[in-house]
Amino acid sequence: MKILTAYPEMFPGSLEHSVIGKALKENIFKIDTINLHEFGIDDRMSIDDEPFGGGPGMVLRPDVVEKALKSIPEQHNIESKKIYLTPSGTILNQEKLRNLSKLEKITILCGRFEGVDQRAIDVLGFEEVSIGDYVLAGGEIAAQVLLEGCIRLIPGVLGHPESLLEESFSNNLLEYPHYTRPQVWVDSLGNKHDVPEVLTSGHHSNIKKWRLNKSIEKTKNIRPDMYINKEQKQD
Ligand code: ADE
Repeated sequence: MKILTAYPEMFPGSLEHSVIGKALKENIFKIDTINLHEFGIDDRMSIDDEPFGGGPGMVLRPDVVEKALKSIPEQHNIESKKIYLTPSGTILNQEKLRNLSKLEKITILCGRFEGVDQRAIDVLGFEEVSIGDYVLAGGEIAAQVLLEGCIRLIPGVLGHPESLLEESFSNNLLEYPHYTRPQVWVDSLGNKHDVPEVLTSGHHSNIKKWRLNKSIEKTKNIRPDMYINKEQKQD
């Protein structure tokens, strides 16, 4: 993975921890950052400028993005999927992560400021991707979200790969609720809370049915949009 960013010190960031960090140490994936500031122009090494047409903020220059991209070995660039993280891109979802996780090479451009000159995006072949309908200060955290979502899907990264089969979004359903010990939890006010009985019954097919029903109930309540899609997909 190559990351074009004005803040290379933000990487690997969260990707250094937990299962993803273990995969990084085991070289299941690799992260190289390319510092956009090294490709700035003029004696001030500027990487951005005012937007044509006026308006607030600064825009990342296309020539800077091109120079930074060209510093990556050509072979990588030819084979690599290029993604520009921006709130005005198509929304990332689990299906997209599944597709991205099969790719060997990904190059991510992290925006800052008001955005990136559109010519760089179009000419250099970046796909615009958003991690959700909200605006962050830049693309670096978004890049870590995308990479974490992708890397955990690479075979061998998760300790329990079967958890991928039942997790949220895998069948257009949210995942059922989970419970663990103690079987009766007495909270600090002295109230007792039991675990649903079926889960301690040892009756596997009833447990399966209960979980599916809970998934359906939860999806209908929390994500009716997703449930409608599921019904349409089954038609
Ligand atoms: N940069 C700023 N906000 C973003 C978002 N929602 N998704 C991707 N990149 C971003």
